[in-house]
Amino acid sequence: MKGLGGKVAIVTGGAASIGAAIVRSFVEAGARVVIADIDEAASLALARELGPNALAIPTDISKDASIEACIATTIKAFGRLDCLINNACLYLDRGLASTREEWHRALDVNLIGHVIMLRESLAELRKSRGSVVNIASVGGKFGQAGRALYPAAKAATLQLTRNQAVELAEFGIRVNSISPGWTWSQPIERATKGNRAKADRVAAQIHPLGRVGNAKEIADAVLFLCSDAAGFITGTDLAVDGGYSAVAGDGGHPITARLSE
Ligand SMILES: NC(=O)c1ccc[n+]([C@@H]2O[C@H](COP(=O)([O-])OP(=O)(O)OC[C@H]3O[C@@H](n4cnc5c(N)ncnc54)[C@H](O)[C@@H]3O)[C@@H](O)[C@H]2O)c1
Repeated sequence: MKGLGGKVAIVTGGAASIGAAIVRSFVEAGARVVIADIDEAASLALARELGPNALAIPTDISKDASIEACIATTIKAFGRLDCLINNACLYLDRGLASTREEWHRALDVNLIGHVIMLRESLAELRKSRGSVVNIASVGGKFGQAGRALYPAAKAATLQLTRNQAVELAEFGIRVNSISPGWTWSQPIERATKGNRAKADRVAAQIHPLGRVGNAKEIADAVLFLCSDAAGFITGTDLAVDGGYSAVAGDGGHPITARLSE
């Protein structure tokens, strides 16, 4: 991907699944990357594997002091910041039964943590005329019974991306989101006990491309949005969802014929 060599990126939640794929892809593109994840052991293991261009800075994005330390350590280590990837998440969600405390915990990670990450990165992103990618979800676009916390945060992420893009355009900072469909990742691996074929079979019912996505496919989209190739793209959402958001409740198969049956 053009224009990423020598750049510095922070990936929140970069120790696992989609985040780890984003970290790997940045390193492969010649960038230096901070793994800003609450899971210290997994962050350190990934950084060790990837070498000097990956740095683990264990970070809890629900704590302001931890975020401030993450940005300060990044600048101390790498001297600049070009790309902020807000990817960390908490799948905590008990729908309408969720308590106020659960709402606060979920929004703190899935929404507010990302906003504070941006606020604290702003001075450096202004210097580099950098790029921000917020990871949203198909879950933030459609109604689904039994869920509330996660989709509310993701819908807000889609809206905040537009606000941030407009507000920061004057500094040359681009802000976009990506909405993945179901992606082969730790949560889906756990749910299927590692059965990729089963994940693909179930996903095929709602993803026209007939499978779950790969974390690398989300990472490729992130790198594109951070690259020179996306220099005139801001305030938009890129669906990387195998067609999930292109179909309506009819599953893409016209049911108008049933009207005259
Ligand atoms: N997996 C999917 O199918 C899917 C679909 C749509 C959107 N997404 C989005 O993609 C992103 C990555 O999802 P995933 O499935 O790879 O998640 P995951 O659960 O595999 O990884 C999330 C990472 O975030 C870290 N994290 C949790 N709380 C944190 C905190 N307070 N501070 C810092 N790090 C913290 C975890 O330690 C973990 O490494 C999320 O934003 C998610 O909403 C995922």
